[in-house]
Amino acid sequence: MTIRKVGVLGAGLMGAGIAEVAARAGYDTAVREVNEDLIGKGISRIQASMARAVEKGKLAGSERDAVMARLKPTTRLEDLADCDIVVEAIVENLDLKKETYRELDRLCKPTTIFCSNTSSLTITEMSAVTRRADRFAGLHFFNPVPVMKLVEVVRTIATSKETEEAVLDFARALGKEPIRAQDNSGFVVNRLLVPYLLDAVRALEEGVGSREDIDKGMELGCGHPMGPLKLLDFVGLDTTYFIAEIMFNEYREKRFAPPPLLKRMVLAGRLGRKSGRGFYEYGEGK
Ligand code: CAA
Ligand code: NAD
Repeated sequence: MTIRKVGVLGAGLMGAGIAEVAARAGYDTAVREVNEDLIGKGISRIQASMARAVEKGKLAGSERDAVMARLKPTTRLEDLADCDIVVEAIVENLDLKKETYRELDRLCKPTTIFCSNTSSLTITEMSAVTRRADRFAGLHFFNPVPVMKLVEVVRTIATSKETEEAVLDFARALGKEPIRAQDNSGFVVNRLLVPYLLDAVRALEEGVGSREDIDKGMELGCGHPMGPLKLLDFVGLDTTYFIAEIMFNEYREKRFAPPPLLKRMVLAGRLGRKSGRGFYEYGEGK
């Protein structure tokens, strides 16, 4: 199962990073968004990320140009039909993912592997709407994708051993360090991280500390590169809310329940860095 051409669905926070990493690893990479404006924003995100690397001498200008030449931005799902693997990173909504997988299953060749970058949905639910459950796995990247070494490779009860090995090899070819996870909501890392992030919001609600002191406490006291509230702004409060709802539905334990404050902020459009304002202010929609 040789992977030559990669497809990426979604060019948001994660999809743009996944497309960048695939193209920088040498793969021809088609990346699809729902409209021209959003695919343009996704490509700009990739260009900004690579400009950072060029500035720091981590990437030659000529290599940056070669990477851009390997990227094929599109709004047409058909342009992913000849991909050997498709990594989906669309919004954390099961119905939308299932609808997209049904369509993609009809378009892609039978050998194409499907991987979801979902944070909390179970891979089995998505693979069940396709005719390729044996060629379906989870491939969960971490934000920011170009920087974080970890990916979680998720095998369902239907994923073939050959597919799991091909996805593990692909992850390594991207320069990542894979760990294997079961198909339970949140896999390994989010099973531990999400309750911690939600507890930080509850601590803020309960007046345990100011937002600055809660973050400073974890940064200086536990060596975290970002405190939990800063990290929530970085991940996206909307995405975190969707994840919490899904995990609470799976485990029915309070620690996974989204705190009221988180829900109110999402309803008010305070999504974090992506909207310019979350727990902190970032200026217009960074
Ligand atoms: N995209 C690409 N590269 C980025 C970046 C971005 N958004 N932000 C920073 N970088 C790069 C910088 O260019 C720099 O690269 P070099 O080391 O090659 O110079 C490096 O990352 C360090 O960046 P900075 O020095 O600017 O800033 P920093 O030291 O504060 O690091 C950070 C930034 C890497 C984001 C760091 O704060 C960090 O690791 N934060 C925690 C991130 C985290 O926990 N991610 C997991 C979230 S949970 C998840 O992803 C799973 C889920 O399902 C929700
Ligand atoms: P995002 O909101 O930044 O991006 C999602 C993108 O999907 C949007 O740009 C949207 O236009 C696009 N989209 C929706 N339907 C589409 C379709 N049919 N085809 C193509 N594009 C479509 O969200 P994100 O933070 O990038 O999260 C995406 C996925 O990655 C989610 O499943 C999330 O759980 C997961 N994830 C997120 C993080 C994180 O830190 N944000 C980390 C790991 C995994």
